[in-house]
Amino acid sequence: SNKHDLKGKKVVVTAGHTIEAIDPVRYITNHSSGKMGFAVARNAVRRGADVILISGPTHLANDTGAKLVSVRTTAQMHKAVEEQYSDSDIVIMAAAVADYHVLRPSKQKIKKTGSKLTLELEKNIDILKTLGQKKKTQKLVGFAAETQNLLENGQQKLISKNLDLIVANDVSRSDIGFGSDENEVVFMRPGKENINSPKTDKNNIAKMIFDLITED
Ligand code: PMT
Repeated sequence: SNKHDLKGKKVVVTAGHTIEAIDPVRYITNHSSGKMGFAVARNAVRRGADVILISGPTHLANDTGAKLVSVRTTAQMHKAVEEQYSDSDIVIMAAAVADYHVLRPSKQKIKKTGSKLTLELEKNIDILKTLGQKKKTQKLVGFAAETQNLLENGQQKLISKNLDLIVANDVSRSDIGFGSDENEVVFMRPGKENINSPKTDKNNIAKMIFDLITED
C-alpha cells in the first residue's frame, strides 16, 4: 500500500524466535524464521509509521526500513517490548516466544555421562498478556500458532490476552506458517465475524493486518 495511513504512528513489531540456554553451548528454541514479523514491519514502514522491530536471532537481513532491536532470550524480548510500549500506537507480536526457560542453566558444558538427562523448565512470562493487562490506547495484535483446534484456541487467546486482533495460523503445515514465504490465516476480532485469508505471501498477510486494525 502506498497510502501513508500510519504516518505519525509508532508501531512495535516482534519477530523470530527467542532462545533459552541449557548450558554455554546448547539452547531450546523453535522454528520461527522471522519472515512473518519482518513482513509486518516492512508494511508498517511503507505506510509511513515509525517502526521498531524487536527480533530474536534470524538469518534475515533487515531490509524493512524499521529500527532493529536484536534480542536473544524471552527476558530480553520482554524488556525491549516494555521499553517501547507506553507511547506506541500499535503493537504486533509475530514472534514465537519460548514458553519455558531452563531453571538453572549449567555454567559449564554438561558432560554426557548419564544415559538420561532431565532438564527442569520454568514458565516464561507471557509478554503479550502483560501488555493486554495494562493496555490504554494501544491497538494490540497477537498471533496464534496452533497444530489443532485453530479457531477455539485462537478465540481463547484473543480474549485472555485482551487483544484487538489475533492472526491464527496452522503451524502443522509445511507450506505455510514457520519458515515459508506464504501464510494462510484466520483474522479474529472481539465481537466480529472471523475473516479467512487466502494462502498468500506474508507481505499480503501483513497488509491485511493493517487494513483491519486501521478500519475503525
Ligand atoms: O517467523 P516465521 O518463520 O515467518 O513463522 C511465522 C510464525 C508461525 C512464527 C507466526 O506466524 C506466528 O504464529 N507467531 C506466533 C508464534 C507463537 O508464539 O504463538 P503462540 O500461540 O504460542 O502465542 C500467542 C501469542 O502470544 C503470540 O503473539 C506470541 O508472540 C505471544 N506470546 C507467547 C508466549 C509468551 N511467553 N509471550 C508472548 O508474548
